[in-house]
Amino acid sequence: MTTATLAIQQRVIELRRLLQQASYAYYVLDAPEMDDAVYDRLYRDLQELETEYPDLVTPDSPTQRIGERPADQFTSVRHHIPLYSLENAFNLQELASWQDRWRRLAPEAADVDYVTELKIDGSAIALTYDHGLLVRGATRGDGVTGEDITQNIRTIRTIPLRLNLEQPPARLEVRGEAFLPLDVFRQINEERQTKGEAAFANPRNAAAGTLRQLDSAVVAQRRLDFFAYTLHLPDEVAGIDAPATQWQALELLQNLGFRVNPNRLLCPSLADVAAYFEQWDTARLDLPYMTDGVVVKLNHFDLQQQLGFTQKFPRWAIALKYPAEEAPTRVERVVVQVGRTGALTPVAEFSPVQLAGTTVSRATLHNSDRLTELDLHLGDTVIVRKAGEIIPEVVRVMPDLRPADAQRYEMPTHCPACGEPVVRPADEAVTRCINTSCPAILRGSISHWASRAALDINGLGEKWVEQFIDRHLVQSVADLYDLTVEQLLTLDRMGPTSAQKLVGAIAQSKQQPWPRVLYGLGIRHVGSVNAQTLSSQFAKVDDLGAAEPEAIAAVYGIGAEIAQSVYAWFRVPANQVLIDRLRQAGLQLALDPDQVQPQGAQPLAGKTLVITGTLPSLSREDAKAKIQAAGGKVTGTVSSKTDYLVVGSDAGSKLEKAQTLGVAQLSETQLLDLLSSSN
Ligand code: IVH
Repeated sequence: MTTATLAIQQRVIELRRLLQQASYAYYVLDAPEMDDAVYDRLYRDLQELETEYPDLVTPDSPTQRIGERPADQFTSVRHHIPLYSLENAFNLQELASWQDRWRRLAPEAADVDYVTELKIDGSAIALTYDHGLLVRGATRGDGVTGEDITQNIRTIRTIPLRLNLEQPPARLEVRGEAFLPLDVFRQINEERQTKGEAAFANPRNAAAGTLRQLDSAVVAQRRLDFFAYTLHLPDEVAGIDAPATQWQALELLQNLGFRVNPNRLLCPSLADVAAYFEQWDTARLDLPYMTDGVVVKLNHFDLQQQLGFTQKFPRWAIALKYPAEEAPTRVERVVVQVGRTGALTPVAEFSPVQLAGTTVSRATLHNSDRLTELDLHLGDTVIVRKAGEIIPEVVRVMPDLRPADAQRYEMPTHCPACGEPVVRPADEAVTRCINTSCPAILRGSISHWASRAALDINGLGEKWVEQFIDRHLVQSVADLYDLTVEQLLTLDRMGPTSAQKLVGAIAQSKQQPWPRVLYGLGIRHVGSVNAQTLSSQFAKVDDLGAAEPEAIAAVYGIGAEIAQSVYAWFRVPANQVLIDRLRQAGLQLALDPDQVQPQGAQPLAGKTLVITGTLPSLSREDAKAKIQAAGGKVTGTVSSKTDYLVVGSDAGSKLEKAQTLGVAQLSETQLLDLLSSSN
């Protein structure tokens, strides 16, 4: 092995320092100070030196965030200090009575103030730093024992691998909330649905599921984030003044290298807490992560210490929750939907209830496993929940209110759409219909083909798709292109104008570009993002169809599972027939030569854009696809990390936010100009 000279050792240390500092500025302070290209360059330099001199690799190197191989399982660990949970207050009276209670225990307390923080809907984790190095990250578990998920925790960029502290103490602990940004949450659910898996009901479950992934490379892709809120320090730490208050502790946490939520307020009275709580009631809906309340903590540590803990909670803190977006209702029936992947989803139907500002009369029961867990009987009173973005779901059953003669609901043994027996693979929570000519699967495939992000066929709604299938007019998406106005006129409630229009819209879809066609095929694991990625490397269907799984997996962002699924799809004879028929019908099965981006000509590489309002000619999906093809990223929320806001007519709060933050704006024309530039 080559031995590194002193100069090389120093260079490695310097590179690490520069990268750590840049990453802290970018992720924690939200104030980037290094150009992405420079960062990538330095990162590569460090990687090369570390490959050449493996002795120089240290566990806190920015190159060491992803583990070498997946874990087999997690080991359980005892927390050095237990993790307590929080008592809830559901209104301001309950908050006031909490104040009365702690005041009775500490009547002499004077100059009291509260720190009000946002309550993040994620998973609590505990981090241990020995001599300044991150040595352990663990889930909360039952508060006393959790699981060692260090390898996954290391992938979170806002968690420092080494503390920014000259003389770190032997041990220090930090607690906080690991969470998934809402755009990642939505993306994961979209992917799960393309895989035929049940969607995560909320970001909390998705975060907990991600933290317990055995493969840290998968975790790294999910962009988990973290807000620190608790610091456990030994009594004496060289070089720093021990914080006396939570407010100071939060500042110190930020200086140590952690991301701390900037949305916090020091409140001299509960009236200030209440005002802050109300201020965030609507503002929280614009945050890129989910919050379900505020956490109110007594600021002074000596007062906290005096009050101590009950069995479960600190007496010095409480969570003030936003009104529950849950309501009781009675299940009238359960219907089973069959999706285009054949997955059977049980859905409860009940008397309508008002939830999170909408009327809800059906809620998902997810899958067979969840049904067994709930032990649902028809006529049961259940609690349904819907929060903002979240799909309404049945969260629990109230067995005490169950009518005496209620029958337990059982999943059907046969597909409700085609009558064929269903299967339930031993390692899956989902029951499936595997009949390839099942009308429900066909209906789902056609609706998917016609959907906005796929071929975007205007006017091809469910009611027509259903009749096409019932009347055997369509047996595959290719048949759509043979439909005639005369045939359409035989359908119920179809007039000559609509028939003309629909045939026109179907013909029009032949112009849709290849990535949309690829997405429309509904290959398992190929959502719209993967379709974009794949088609940028495989500019023709024949190239993709001929590729070996290894070649497909070699595309950046495409994993082995996706590659295998694509490979297998092209090996099914019926799918080859489908491709041939689509080709004959004149669909775009290759990129238009002027859409092929020459390598390196990605005018929006590394840029983050948000779209708001209606654009004059492009649909949202088109604009998004074009931006992604040019190397840019599209997110749903404006933040200081947004490079451009693309503004259409009727733009709303996003525009205001962009103006406040000074984010650059683009019209559709300006966007198109940017896209056609190649520098
Ligand atoms: S303090 C003893 N602060 O809410 C201190 N918790 O419902 C306990 N949470 O288990 C935690 N944001 O997972 C605290 N700013 C915040 C929080 C927060 C979210 C979570 C945490 C806790 C749960 C209790």
